Amino acid sequence: MCHCMQKDKFKKFLRQLKDMGFDAIPRVEKSPRESRPPAPINSPQEFASKGKLLEELREKYASCRNCPLSASRTKIVFGEGNPSARLMFIGEGPGFDEDHTGRPFVGRAGQLLTKILVKGMKLKRSDVYITNIVKCHPMKDPTNPEKRGNDRPPNFFEVSKCIPILYEQIKIIRPEVICALGGPAAKILLATEAGISSLRGKVFERKIIPSEPDFIVKIVPTFHPAYLLRNPPAKVPAWKDYQEIMKILGLKRSD
Ligand code: URA
Repeated sequence: MCHCMQKDKFKKFLRQLKDMGFDAIPRVEKSPRESRPPAPINSPQEFASKGKLLEELREKYASCRNCPLSASRTKIVFGEGNPSARLMFIGEGPGFDEDHTGRPFVGRAGQLLTKILVKGMKLKRSDVYITNIVKCHPMKDPTNPEKRGNDRPPNFFEVSKCIPILYEQIKIIRPEVICALGGPAAKILLATEAGISSLRGKVFERKIIPSEPDFIVKIVPTFHPAYLLRNPPAKVPAWKDYQEIMKILGLKRSD
């Protein structure tokens, strides 16, 4: 490919990134660890190539029919955010608002997550990567995608069919920290039967990609934002989890 064609392709990619909410390709220069945001630490080229790989992955599964959730979904909710994020959030599965917009965590629970990110952690959604264990909305009544409150946790079959996409995403993004939002996500990522109350408050280190034993990611489980909406006092311990994440990433605490 000639140089100018490559340049055009790169420009197009930059425009796509801007449409996705990125202000600019982050600079490569190193800032002190204390103030480094969970933004890319790779070169702009690596940032761009990770974005391209994620797009290719999204396209590969754009018409996925691997499980029955595909029959009732309105939109696939692949995930969104920074392709080089140091911090990744993983929830359980899309709900009504996500199914209708194709974006993760945009309903009431998502708005709370965004508030925690922006007001608490002083980050933007586009600094981190947000996705779910399953990419289509698990519904109690799959004949009625227009009904609110029709959510259920994904079952084992659905998770087993969808989890390869998540592992591919992790493999591309290579985050330092994964925040598991809620019991189902934590149980699946940590391969445990333990409940979220006993898992949260701890940091787990996992070799998440079997073929890459040197790639160790820290997993921080916390309460699901939807649980925090139903049970506001749980925001206190949850905030401790978010502060722990900030500590691991060397971000300044806001309190
Ligand atoms: N709950 C989740 O687990 N994921 C979403 O994307 C929205 C709500």
